[in-house]
Amino acid sequence: MVNIRKFKNFITDSMAIDMGTASTIIAVKGRDIVIDEPSLVAVNEITGEIVAYGKEAADMQGRESRDIAVVAPLSRGVVADFERTKKMLGYFVEKAKSGGAQIVIEAVIGMPSEITPVEQRALLNAAEEANIGKVFMMEEGLAAAFGAGISPEDKRASAVVDIGASTTNIAIVAKGNIIHSRSERIGSQEINEAISTHIRRHRGLQIGEETTEKLKTEFATTFLPSDLSRSIVVRGRDVITGNPSAVEITIGELYPVVEAIVRRVALIVSDTLTELRPEVAADIHDRGILLTGGGALLQGIDQYLRERVNLPVLVADEPRYATVRGLLQMFDEPVLLERVTKREPDFLQNAEVPFEA
Ligand SMILES: Nc1ncnc2c1ncn2[C@@H]1O[C@H](COP(=O)(O)OP(=O)(O)OP(=O)(O)O)[C@@H](O)[C@H]1O
Ligand SMILES: [Mg+2]
Repeated sequence: MVNIRKFKNFITDSMAIDMGTASTIIAVKGRDIVIDEPSLVAVNEITGEIVAYGKEAADMQGRESRDIAVVAPLSRGVVADFERTKKMLGYFVEKAKSGGAQIVIEAVIGMPSEITPVEQRALLNAAEEANIGKVFMMEEGLAAAFGAGISPEDKRASAVVDIGASTTNIAIVAKGNIIHSRSERIGSQEINEAISTHIRRHRGLQIGEETTEKLKTEFATTFLPSDLSRSIVVRGRDVITGNPSAVEITIGELYPVVEAIVRRVALIVSDTLTELRPEVAADIHDRGILLTGGGALLQGIDQYLRERVNLPVLVADEPRYATVRGLLQMFDEPVLLERVTKREPDFLQNAEVPFEA
């Protein structure tokens, strides 16, 4: 009552938050993407203190000093380590905020479809501690679909396959609803593990995460190249002697390692497509599949899936940002926002932030 005038000075930051296993991406209404950083924290193991977040923590990974451990507080996109997730989210939200003190924050946060009430509660608590006044939670599959360009009004069905770091999520949407979904614990990170295991076992070289990621994103393909002998030098630590060492890897050697993982993803997709009702199947047959998530950036994955499922397959524009852009769109569609998001009433009662001011 007393402070209504004061509230008029508040500015609202409307944030869309996609906290993934690999990256946290935040977009703010009017400013698009403002945060795109690894979901990592660097912890001093002696004091337990967090010494770096995001990109800065990632830069330490693999070369961290003795007392520092770089850890990922989220696993399969849900909160695995509550305290650190909370601090990490707080750090990113603070960094994403517009300048000035008088800012209230409302946020739409993406959540996996199969999230448990306990996990949802943990995410809400983390958001509360990050000073977010009003929280909406929305299923990631739906957000990815909107962000990939599917209209909430479209009554015909569309299929969106999001390949993240740890999860492949398939959502069939129509009229702004998820009508069928499936989520499996396989993602692009699996390819990293397959690559580093292969090189260790078959070539006797241990390689770090940064080297593995580079091999995957800059060299690996999911189609057999015409020149199988195209090669790259990979450096690491010799398994037997422990000495710094290097081996030459050809694309012909790497291809089957990567293909084995992508084949499993393709099987999940084609299997899910057999679970659809006839009209829905007809729509998907006509329209094909949209790919989102960082895993969609793997060279040739669209072509690979097209051949396996026998349907058109298209990679969305900036596939890693589809989810966050879909979440952000909700601020322009208040009715839809209310309909598609979940909130926890008692949580909101505790959030005394002057939104109507
Ligand atoms: N150019 C690229 N080629 C191949 N893979 C890539 C490329 N760029 C990113 N990736 C992979 O995409 C994954 C990250 O994707 P994304 O940011 O969608 O994951 P996430 O949302 O954090 O994970 P999840 O949704 O599983 O929780 C990483 O495993 C990364 O290696
Ligand atoms: Mg994701």
